[in-house]
Amino acid sequence: MIRAQALEKSYQVNGRTLAVIHPMDLYIKAASFAAIQGRSGSGKTTLLTLLSGLDRPTGGRLVLDEDDITDWPESRMAAFRNKKIGFVFQDFHLIPGMTALENVLFPAELSGNAHARERAESLLRQVGLWERRKHLPRQLSGGEQQRVAICRAVVNRPKIIFADEPTGNLDSAAADGVMQLLVDLKEEEGATLVVVTHSAEVAEQADRVITLSDGEVAHDSGA
Ligand SMILES: Nc1ncnc2c1ncn2[C@@H]1O[C@H](COP(=O)(O)OP(=O)(O)OP(=O)(O)O)[C@@H](O)[C@H]1O
Ligand SMILES: [Mg+2]
Repeated sequence: MIRAQALEKSYQVNGRTLAVIHPMDLYIKAASFAAIQGRSGSGKTTLLTLLSGLDRPTGGRLVLDEDDITDWPESRMAAFRNKKIGFVFQDFHLIPGMTALENVLFPAELSGNAHARERAESLLRQVGLWERRKHLPRQLSGGEQQRVAICRAVVNRPKIIFADEPTGNLDSAAADGVMQLLVDLKEEEGATLVVVTHSAEVAEQADRVITLSDGEVAHDSGA
């Protein structure tokens, strides 16, 4: 579960304060699927990086899976993220010198997850990339890189998965495959899903749709 209280983010730009996320209260139930929508620049990526503990808020508090992580030092936060959080970036963030399989295995190796190899291989099969497992990111198409990034995000069976436009570069068959993988993790392992999407089909599968506008919740189907 995720509980944000008056969570906010602002930046100093040319001596002026730019509020990107206005103080926001948000509770997302464990094992639920929340979709986040909103125009470009409305703050979706920023909100995701705050809720996942990848970035620090300028104010407010954040509880993830029962732990108030707001004041944790970065080292403790990083270990927590590795174990409990999966993040699919809008621009993938794959490690250029590692193959697809090595990229997927990387978070598992960091946490010493012994069963990771089987899991990584089965994930790559599930998303149709078995034949591409030895390719480097630059030898993969955008959609293939996106699927590798999704496998990497879920290899440690995280409690909470954040995905920023995970189907943005995929055709409808590949998008269905990826969403199925994420929804299975929710159904079978009780993972919480928070997915930024422009896709109506993806939003339709969500338990709740939160729409952002200028850094505020403009509409929330679960409120
Ligand atoms: N480091 C930064 N410094 C200043 N402003 C920033 C910074 N990062 C983001 N912003 C601003 O915050 C706003 C929200 O950005 P964000 O990336 O969260 O939008 P988004 O909803 O994800 O958009 P998109 O759909 O295009 O991905 C934008 O206006 C952006 O210019
Ligand atoms: Mg974005």
